[in-house]
Amino acid sequence: MNLQGKHIILGITGGIAAYKAPMLVRLLVKAGAEVRCAATDHALQFVTELTLETVSQNKVYHDLFAIGNDHTTEHIALKDWADLAIVAPATANIIGKMACGIADDALSTLLLSMRQSIYICPSMNTQMYESPILQRNLQTLKSIGVHIIEPKSGFLACGTNGAGRMPEPEEIADLVCNADDEQRLDYAGRRILLTAGPTYEKIDAVRFIGNYSTGKMGFALAEELADRGAEVILVAGPTHLSTHNPRIQRIDVESAREMHAAATKAYPECHAAILTAAVADFRPDHQADHKIKKASADQDMTLHLIQNPDILASLGRDKRDDQRLVGFALETTDGIDYAIDKIRRKNLDFIVLNSLQDPGAGFGHDTNLVTIIDHDGTRHPGTLKTKRQVAADIADHLVSLL
Ligand code: CTP
Repeated sequence: MNLQGKHIILGITGGIAAYKAPMLVRLLVKAGAEVRCAATDHALQFVTELTLETVSQNKVYHDLFAIGNDHTTEHIALKDWADLAIVAPATANIIGKMACGIADDALSTLLLSMRQSIYICPSMNTQMYESPILQRNLQTLKSIGVHIIEPKSGFLACGTNGAGRMPEPEEIADLVCNADDEQRLDYAGRRILLTAGPTYEKIDAVRFIGNYSTGKMGFALAEELADRGAEVILVAGPTHLSTHNPRIQRIDVESAREMHAAATKAYPECHAAILTAAVADFRPDHQADHKIKKASADQDMTLHLIQNPDILASLGRDKRDDQRLVGFALETTDGIDYAIDKIRRKNLDFIVLNSLQDPGAGFGHDTNLVTIIDHDGTRHPGTLKTKRQVAADIADHLVSLL
């Protein structure tokens, strides 16, 4: 990221490493940025307001209610001014407040209002840094796109040796300069429904009809969308996969009918749905509660199958004008024509076609090769990519329609 002309908030909190903050200000200014410091009262025990004001050539923001502030709602004015924020050092206290949405002083209020990139430099005693609560809070912040600049190991002010030392100002400035452009949070405020995995259709107490789907594509989409700010409702068939982003609400189901019920209930509250699940089209008309016994050695058995609800078609019928619906198609022959037909029949905005014939694509693989086909038939052929990269392509395609 080129810092020339960038407006940077430097948040400073009350840890001993606050003494390094003036040097960081100088380096950022040297790289072409304009810097405004926002300090907690505790930070000003370690570094003076006069020093920060002198090196930044700007007033230090530390009192929400100060008469001398330039604006009555200084935190909002600063939020509008800023391109990004760096919190260095970031104490366990500010990390906890950011993770929980607490805004009880100038800096925490300002950070809560920001949607721009935020970089934090956790800096504290090793025991505090390794505490499960602090680590959970860091995970929460990571999941909403806050960039964590990991602390170094070394000699700490408390006399111990371990992780928790703030990197030197040069390293922090370098990391920010070399960071990619702002992380996208283009799904913030969107709620997206996903279905994923196979369904199991019970035959008796110990047997079912299933399929080879692992759910990897749907779970990759769930993480991608949640990392980009979406609230995700993931209706998952039986799978061993787990989710990581706390913005994913997972509803586990087994059969097509359970998946249908959960998806139908969730869709009205969602901006869009992407149905990746490999739903069994048929189920046995009768499910035995006990294990079916064979009566004699040469006896055959006939299962009578009846149709399951078509979840995609049923959401397509319920779809409002302000909602979007995306289907997947797994075809073995004549893929494109079937897929285009499916878009029309099921009232979809676009369909993601993957062919079982492409090596590395389809069930169980970590890679996939898809073609996105629009409602008007326009094709966007892809190349073999990881499922997470394919998820990013699908998310890019959908966001333009929301
Ligand atoms: N799907 C669904 N409910 C079903 C079957 C399929 O929601 N009972 C969804 C899948 O999640 C996928 C899409 O429909 O998004 C296509 O699934 P596929 O098995 O390729 O197609 P079918 O719908 O079975 O195809 P057709 O209607 O042509 O038989």
